[in-house]
Amino acid sequence: MINMAESKEQVELVRSLDPAFYTDPEHFRRETESLFANTWQFAGHSSQLAEPGDYFSFEIAGDSLFCVMGRDGAIRTFFNVCQHRAHQLVKGSGNARRLVCPYHSWTYDLNGQLRSGPNLKSVPGFDADTICLTSVKTEIFHGFIFVNLNPDAKPMETWFPEVRRELAEFVPELDKLRPLQWIELEEQCNWKVAVENYSECYHCRLNHPTFANGVIKPETYDIQPQGYCLRHTTECQNLDQMSYPVDADANARAGDYSSWFLWPMFSFQVYPGNVLNTYHWRPLAVDRVRVFRGWYTVDGAESEVIRALARQDRETTVEEDIRLVESVQRGLNSRGYRSGPLVLDPNCGVHSEHSVRVLQQWMRKAADGR
Ligand code: FES
Ligand SMILES: [Fe+2]
Repeated sequence: MINMAESKEQVELVRSLDPAFYTDPEHFRRETESLFANTWQFAGHSSQLAEPGDYFSFEIAGDSLFCVMGRDGAIRTFFNVCQHRAHQLVKGSGNARRLVCPYHSWTYDLNGQLRSGPNLKSVPGFDADTICLTSVKTEIFHGFIFVNLNPDAKPMETWFPEVRRELAEFVPELDKLRPLQWIELEEQCNWKVAVENYSECYHCRLNHPTFANGVIKPETYDIQPQGYCLRHTTECQNLDQMSYPVDADANARAGDYSSWFLWPMFSFQVYPGNVLNTYHWRPLAVDRVRVFRGWYTVDGAESEVIRALARQDRETTVEEDIRLVESVQRGLNSRGYRSGPLVLDPNCGVHSEHSVRVLQQWMRKAADGR
């Protein structure tokens, strides 16, 4: 006879991460070093740099960086620090013929090469040609600028195989798109709570009626890894009930929904009608994250339809998720919480957390400094 007690014990449940992953400032500090500084992070959109000399600064992994367009039209990224005595070079955004440090006016060209500085020629042995701003690995991904602070980082195609090609297929006018709007908000939770919530739809039916009863067919929703991308796929329904007009026959993908989450903190989403929108997250502290919802149109042209969609999304899905993730963060601080088991359905599907398991494996690896 089978001993039920014994056979039950043999199955080991996969548990969610220890709460300290989400609450311990020391863990967050380690992630900044090992994860944020070694992964592809979204910097901005190339349309922010229209002319040679245009630049904008931003922060990744606690470091200030800036992107600048060179005379050759190429976009480069540098650490925002002068190689003399470490003053910051630029603030915000603007246009400059040369990059002049505000401290002692050492002057760099747009390629980051030191060109001149007061009294440098009088210094015996001083060779300006050997001094250059520290550059940062940069990739332009259909107009989206990504940077990686690790000079040896593998290209995005290795991290996120096929995403570049698939995205172009889902959004035929992708390379002409410009941001129309970036809606920015802050969530009082660890960045991992936010991206885990983004990466499962086990919570959708109960919490996102607009999303789950509208365009997607929940029973077909699935999320699977594709390198370090988590790819969301679903069949659609009720295209005629959408809140904006969709011509599903306009092209091969006009009636489809899909999403590509690029580990650790960016996601491309395409709604029916080839409507591109994005999420990106920037961690502010162990328990605070900034979220940006991006909406795009050809040449950034004004569109009441896209603005209405952005508004509706902000008032429903985004708002609903804020309440969830902030409650989870409070719960992770509770003395009464032990890491609970993930719901892993061997057949995957919408009511399974297999995608959270994958994410948490990456999170564990990052915590080990791998
Ligand atoms: S620190 Fe930049 S010129 Fe001195
Ligand atoms: Fe959600």
